[in-house]
Amino acid sequence: MATLMLLQSSPITRQAVTGPLGVMCLRALYSTDGPRPLKTTNLSAMKRGTGGRSSFNGIVATVFGCTGFVGRYVCNKLGKSGTQMILPYRGDHGEAIRLKVTGDLGQVLFHFFHLKDEDSIREAVKYSNVVINLIGREFETKNFTFNDVHVDGARAIARISREAGVDRLIHLSALNASPHPEPLVLKEGSKFLKSKYYGELAVREEFPNATIIRPSDIYGQEDRFLRYYAHIWRRQFRSMPLWHKGEKTIKQPVFVSDVAQGIINAIRDPETAGKVYQAVGPKRYLLSELVDWFHRVMRKDEKWWGYWRYDLRYDPTFMMKVKLTEMVCPGNPVGELHSERVEREYVTDIVEAGVPTLEDLGVQLTTMESQVPWELRPYRAALYYDAELHEFEEPAPPKAIEAKVY
Ligand SMILES: NC(=O)c1ccc[n+]([C@@H]2O[C@H](COP(=O)([O-])OP(=O)(O)OC[C@H]3O[C@@H](n4cnc5c(N)ncnc54)[C@H](OP(=O)(O)O)[C@@H]3O)[C@@H](O)[C@H]2O)c1
Repeated sequence: MATLMLLQSSPITRQAVTGPLGVMCLRALYSTDGPRPLKTTNLSAMKRGTGGRSSFNGIVATVFGCTGFVGRYVCNKLGKSGTQMILPYRGDHGEAIRLKVTGDLGQVLFHFFHLKDEDSIREAVKYSNVVINLIGREFETKNFTFNDVHVDGARAIARISREAGVDRLIHLSALNASPHPEPLVLKEGSKFLKSKYYGELAVREEFPNATIIRPSDIYGQEDRFLRYYAHIWRRQFRSMPLWHKGEKTIKQPVFVSDVAQGIINAIRDPETAGKVYQAVGPKRYLLSELVDWFHRVMRKDEKWWGYWRYDLRYDPTFMMKVKLTEMVCPGNPVGELHSERVEREYVTDIVEAGVPTLEDLGVQLTTMESQVPWELRPYRAALYYDAELHEFEEPAPPKAIEAKVY
């Protein structure tokens, strides 16, 4: 038997291969693990390094929906801790290629896939021990209904992951997912929330040990919560139409980085397998209170003709505008304004008692007061004004309401 002696920190000195060729480690400079026999060719067995960006933490994760809003944060956190990422993408590779820098050299790999092509999904998960499904759609398109994406797509990913021997599946659903969402603005209620509910059932059926995370409205850079209210198209001139003036809706938005951290913590903790987590922020607010505060932060109410909030039920032109937007640009609605979004806007966030939250995953939650002014800064009037001059009053923070669990 030939024995190859390697010195110091050569990359393969961490492995001792049994068989005709043995590789022995004399000294490993940056790990506490001793040399061990390599029993499998699975990449995850080759854990190496101290757990930082340039190490390999033993996790090979396929991130479906990596090109989305949450996906970018998840990939960033995965890369920082030395995870190898397989990033399936569709359409133009330019959408995905920017994620190359989230991990170290050779740790971020791309794979073209289609949600209805099972072979392409199989290819994407076959080397992974963790699969994260962040695929979701806010509105239906001519190619994909909510059911195609949230139920059939999620089921296919869960089933193929189980067949491929994946250890952990993390699936992102939505808070308030329900088989019978209460109709508020639309006659039939939110189809999004309905499909998310059946998606959870499908994932459980195919991959019983999946960890399901239900986020409320997520805010952060390039979100669809703050930007939605900040967009001129959401307003009617300078006023803001809200269902019942926003006084009957309670929201508990969560910061995107907290959601991403929750996903990372769930992957690391095997105890989380098979459980459901609610990803909500630390405080609850009336929607009216939040929207008024956003306006104060953006200084949109400074002018005399300024901002006022009214009940959208008495303004048919607003829903006409929504329908017109959907007709003119169905694939990319201006200002994210579409009827499904308007319907979900008024669903009160229900935090179920007994279902763990991000805090149970060890996440320290970010408050809106500390984050939102920075996120809304690009939308602020008098953008280049120096805060140090104290010319404008500091906007009063929104009033939080009693935490309530159902
Ligand atoms: N953001 C929120 O406020 C919020 C709230 C509750 C729940 N969620 C859920 O959390 C998850 C992540 O949200 P997000 O904000 O990151 O969503 P997002 O920004 O809309 O990203 C969705 C991702 O899914 C992919 N996708 C959508 N339809 C697809 C299809 N038919 N085939 C293949 N890929 C498809 C998109 O790929 P392309 O880039 O190629 O389109 C994108 O990568 C989703 O499941 C969402 O429903 C989000």
